[in-house]
Amino acid sequence: MPAKVDMDKIVSLCKRRGLIFPSSEIYGGLASCWDYGPMGVELKRNVRDAWWKSIVHERDDVVGLDTSIMMHPGVWAASGHIDSFTDPLVECKSCHLRWRADAIEGQGCPKCGGELTEPRMFNLMFKTSMGPVEEEASTIYLRPETAQGIFVNFDNVITTSRKKLPLGIAQIGKSFRNEITTGNFIFRTREFEHMELEYFVKPGTDEEWLDYWVKERFDWYVKLGVRKENLRLRQHGKDELAHYARDCHDIEYLFPMGWSELEGIANRGDFDLVQHAKHSGKELGYYDAEAGEKYVPYVIEPSAGVDRSVLAFLIDAYDEEEVEGEKRTVLHLHRSLAPIKVAVLPLSRNEKLTPLAKEVFNKLCPNFVTDYDDSQSIGRRYRRQDEIGTPFCVTIDFESLEDKQVTIRERDSLAQIRVPTGELNKVIEAKLKGEAFDVSPLWATRDK
Ligand code: GAP
Repeated sequence: MPAKVDMDKIVSLCKRRGLIFPSSEIYGGLASCWDYGPMGVELKRNVRDAWWKSIVHERDDVVGLDTSIMMHPGVWAASGHIDSFTDPLVECKSCHLRWRADAIEGQGCPKCGGELTEPRMFNLMFKTSMGPVEEEASTIYLRPETAQGIFVNFDNVITTSRKKLPLGIAQIGKSFRNEITTGNFIFRTREFEHMELEYFVKPGTDEEWLDYWVKERFDWYVKLGVRKENLRLRQHGKDELAHYARDCHDIEYLFPMGWSELEGIANRGDFDLVQHAKHSGKELGYYDAEAGEKYVPYVIEPSAGVDRSVLAFLIDAYDEEEVEGEKRTVLHLHRSLAPIKVAVLPLSRNEKLTPLAKEVFNKLCPNFVTDYDDSQSIGRRYRRQDEIGTPFCVTIDFESLEDKQVTIRERDSLAQIRVPTGELNKVIEAKLKGEAFDVSPLWATRDK
């Protein structure tokens, strides 16, 4: 069982090990904004890459897209975000803190118990102006979802990709929401990254595809190591559906603050294409040449957050164990997500060991994200690597100088095998692909 971890431990580990820092920290920080450090940037990139691989590269019915954050203001009128992308806001008449009316229990202010104002609808889009002369500049919005960039390019993609429906268009990128309440570390922030797929299907097949994508997306988290018992599905009630959605299922994760949304998979019907056709005057439909029919596709949308996924992966991987009477904090991250794949650790900074250790590092680093560390005791260096989830540590000792063999230590089992330096790349590659880590490594059994 995982250690029941509280958020403070995750926040502290992230700071200590260069995963995530408070934004603008030397100025006192900026509420709900976070910066990804040297380890965090690798982890986040691995999450994005895992999503892109499974959604785009491993399929022939999805293509990618990268659209601009700032879009024509007409997009947000058509999409309904100007009118409907709102949350009910209440303000405390005593302490003036603002709250989301639907997220608080009881009548009074959660902070001081003071009387609250009547709720008013607050639009979550960030406004800015475009153009050098402010008075003449037009008001534009920072996108609150990447999806609209996909809908307005539907025709471009269909005519240039020469693909048939069902066809998905995927995008990863920043979104911005002026959330009334943020918090729980990177769970809810005002700037975050979306991973969104808009999967265009023939009307009538939409419910089947919705079921398909709910399962696909649930399985993705499990495949990347998230424990099944920490995940569950929840269908939205009619009263909580977004303005564009006919149906929606959330994948929820058991975060330290309780079950909360990790990803939503919605059936958006033809809402967006119809709206954009109406507002832009451009026909947005699909002609099925084989069937000789024309229709406006329905859209199934799995929409996930990169940052929220990072948080779930971190929490699920976190563990505190006792090894030989000592506490060990370890991230059991899936190998494909681990920021560093292999660490090269000479037993000490002895000048005799350094050349071989550097040679080993230089052999590994073109193939794997590799760290080199020769500071402090070997025990402390192992612990540092455990805390960032490095699956393999390679140790160079004095025997290595004689027999040109090095020790690989595996993070989870703590098992060790000895491997000739000439075979290291192959062995690490096989182990990263999931080959069992036992005392019969590839090189010893290969010729049998
Ligand atoms: N296009 C549909 C859409 O955006 P959503 O349920 O609002 O749907 C999808 O967002 C996912 O994006 C969420 O499940 C969550 O992972 C992430 N997300 C949404 N708002 C967020 C925020 N303020 N901070 C961090 N992640 C957020």
